[in-house]
Parts: sequence; C-alpha cells; structure tokens
Amino acid sequence: MNIFLIGFMGSGKSSVGKKLSKEMNYNFIDTDNFIEKQTNRKIEDFFDKGEEKIFRKKEKEFLQNFNSENTIISTGGGMACSAKNITLMKKKGVIVYLFITLKEAIKRTHFNRPLLKNRGNIDSLFKKRLHFYKNANIIISIDKKTVEDVSRRIKALLCYITPEGGC
Ligand code: S3P
Repeated sequence: MNIFLIGFMGSGKSSVGKKLSKEMNYNFIDTDNFIEKQTNRKIEDFFDKGEEKIFRKKEKEFLQNFNSENTIISTGGGMACSAKNITLMKKKGVIVYLFITLKEAIKRTHFNRPLLKNRGNIDSLFKKRLHFYKNANIIISIDKKTVEDVSRRIKALLCYITPEGGC
C-alpha cells in the first residue's frame, strides 16, 4: 500500500510522513526533495524564474513514473490540485488529506513559501484548493494535534478502508 499525504502548505505532510513511515516500517519520499535532487534545482528557483509550469510538470511526471510499494509520499501543496494527479494517486495508493485552517497555515508558514510571496494570494488559493483536496480517501483535521496524534489517527482510519491498514 502507498499513502499520499496531501494538504495546504504548513499542514505537516513531511513531519507526519516521516513519523508514519518509521512506525509502519514504510519507505518515505518527499516530492519536493525528490524534484530538487532530480533537477539539481531548488524549488524556489522554479518560482523565482517564473517556471512554475515546469515544476508542475515534474510533479506530474513523478506520479506517472511512481511504481514503488509500501511508501509514504509527502506531496507539495499543489500536487493534488490537478484532477489528473488525483486520479494517478488514487490508482497507486490511498490519499490522506491533512486539513489545516487558513489561520493555522499562516501561523505555521509565516508566508515563507515561494507561492506565498504575494500575500494577497493566500485566501483565494486556499479556497480553490479545498475543492481538490476534498477528493481524498481520508480527511484529518490537524489543527491543535501533534504529529503523534495525527499519525495515530491515520493508522486507525486506514483500517476502515484497506485490509492492509495493519489492524
Ligand atoms: C507548493 C507547496 C510547497 C512546494 C512549492 C509549491 C504549493 O510544498 O511544493 O513551493 O503549490 O502549495 P509544501 O506544501 O511542502 O510547502
């Protein structure tokens, strides 16, 4: 089984993914790190040079080529914001959405992300994205929860949707 963690910037996909992969003895991939290594470029560099489209293409290619098993994949906040990417993730695993409120996302990111340089963006970006994120198989609200709480919750909920959930 593969588990794709999706959600807005600051929702803790990487910390939860690392924790969960250790507990479940799964592999862990962070797609931002993967793309940075693959292209030898920083994510910021794509955005600074106005090449978000190329970055999104790399995200899609990652999903198209992904064929591992027993892996937790922490995705960049925009990866799930494409119907095609959602279909690919569902075909290859289970999607878990870490829901964070906008207020909490701002608190955690301090606008410190390439896409948030223009602060005025964040409201409409957040709203637009909810529409995609809600396609997940599992949705967990993470405000005020620790990484441990969230990973415990994910494991419990996986039991309901897959026999491989380890229950
Ligand atoms: C993005 C989120 C970032 C990174 C890139 C674009 C987005 O990852 O992929 O800056 O579109 O929401 P995090 O969600 O890990 O911050």
